[in-house]
Amino acid sequence: FRLPTLTRRAFLASSAAAAAGAMMPLHSPSPAQAAPLREVTLRAAPGRVRLLPAADAETPAWSYNGSVPGPEIRVKQGERLRITVENGLAEETTVHWHGVRVPNAMDGVPYLTQPPIDAGKSFVYEYDAVDAGTFWYHPHQRSFEQVGRGLYGPLIIEEPEPIRVDRDVTWVLGDWRLTKSAEISDDFGNMHDAMHGGRIGNTVTINGHVPDAFAVRRGERIRLRLINAANARIFGLDFADHKPIIAALDGQPVEPHAPDGGLVVLGPAMRADVILDMTAASGSRVSVTDRFYEGLEYRLVDLAYADTPLRDKMPDWPVVLPPNPLREPDMTAAIRHEVTFNGGMMGTMVMQEMGGSMGKGSSGGMGGGMMGNMGMMMDMMHTGGIWFINGVAAEGHVMKPMLTLERDRAHVIAMTNATAWHHPIHLHGHSFRVLSRNGQPTRYREWQDTVLMAPREKVEIAFVADNPGDWMIHCHILEHQAAGMMGVFRVA
Ligand code: C2O
Ligand code: CU
Repeated sequence: FRLPTLTRRAFLASSAAAAAGAMMPLHSPSPAQAAPLREVTLRAAPGRVRLLPAADAETPAWSYNGSVPGPEIRVKQGERLRITVENGLAEETTVHWHGVRVPNAMDGVPYLTQPPIDAGKSFVYEYDAVDAGTFWYHPHQRSFEQVGRGLYGPLIIEEPEPIRVDRDVTWVLGDWRLTKSAEISDDFGNMHDAMHGGRIGNTVTINGHVPDAFAVRRGERIRLRLINAANARIFGLDFADHKPIIAALDGQPVEPHAPDGGLVVLGPAMRADVILDMTAASGSRVSVTDRFYEGLEYRLVDLAYADTPLRDKMPDWPVVLPPNPLREPDMTAAIRHEVTFNGGMMGTMVMQEMGGSMGKGSSGGMGGGMMGNMGMMMDMMHTGGIWFINGVAAEGHVMKPMLTLERDRAHVIAMTNATAWHHPIHLHGHSFRVLSRNGQPTRYREWQDTVLMAPREKVEIAFVADNPGDWMIHCHILEHQAAGMMGVFRVA
């Protein structure tokens, strides 16, 4: 990732960028000061994993290097990554480095930034780790099935000097739809999931296992890196009497704060770095509960306290993370764009479920009692799409930009969720500030790469379009993406 047009003056104009810029080279290093190169090989292939506690319950899955999640890639900010992806699947794949600001050709979007990697072939990705933070990787080819079968892994970029904690722990949250015999249900891409909240599973895992207990000690401070790798499930984690502090969202530092309403909410693809002090009594067991969907609360995992404390007094170490070299959008000169998301099962619309699979068109029956937005229904039948961005449902590999953003300018995208569903909206190649929700300024102007929009919500985001190329914007509920909720924006 390069910022070749970034002048020193513009650079210093952003205090955050200036602070970080002093510590690390933004530009590709010259041979004399080459950043250390970290080489990794990821092989995507079918295999068997043990998701369930029962010793005999194995699940055929697709994985990187034989494990779900794939290996944790952990490097230092400023290092250069060279990742060889081998495709051992029987179909095409690619890898996308979610949230990492990579050069366009390294973004892993088939047909848009590279040809797909054929079965048996490989591809080498190479880029600088410009931002420190919690990121992840996953395929961008038929992701609703490839991710849903287990292809994803964490990518951690450490600050040059990480904040002090006792343990730095990654929890990759997965959600599986398993049959009674512990196999992955193969109803990928079905119309019902696509029209509703996506493929919500029946088995939630942490780091590829249905967890029972997570061992902790009183007095311990943990930096918990949460990554939601589920196709569709939104998490709202309740840490009971613990007081989680959010220090970063989507890898980007944020003013440390307690989560709104006490729940750490993560839409698909979103991350949070949570500072968690272990304040309960030695020997106790405290449940972490997922409460996002009302009436469907369940115990995710227990924090199991050892009988002896680590220390008596909680640490008072600072929790503020150093900023990343993101350019501050100049709001006085920002160009405004409007983007509307619609489609899906509208609030009161009554519609029979349609049969068939995505991508084959909506040939199934649409029967009785249908009311509501007839125009939209006609569009659906016409295009085979279910979800739309600015009235267009993406089909196949439609790669015409819906939006062109002038390079190195600040842009505001005013997004409207005109549907009755949540959508985690992801932009590639950039992080953006979340400015407002329903007209109310956000308290922290957080940087994100994926913003969860509630039904009917309006969200304004802003960023400097400083990474040239054609980039995806899409819903990260992967069934929504596949059913039309994606588009391309061009930075030129
Ligand atoms: Cu996490 Cu377009 O992807
Ligand atoms: Cu969506």
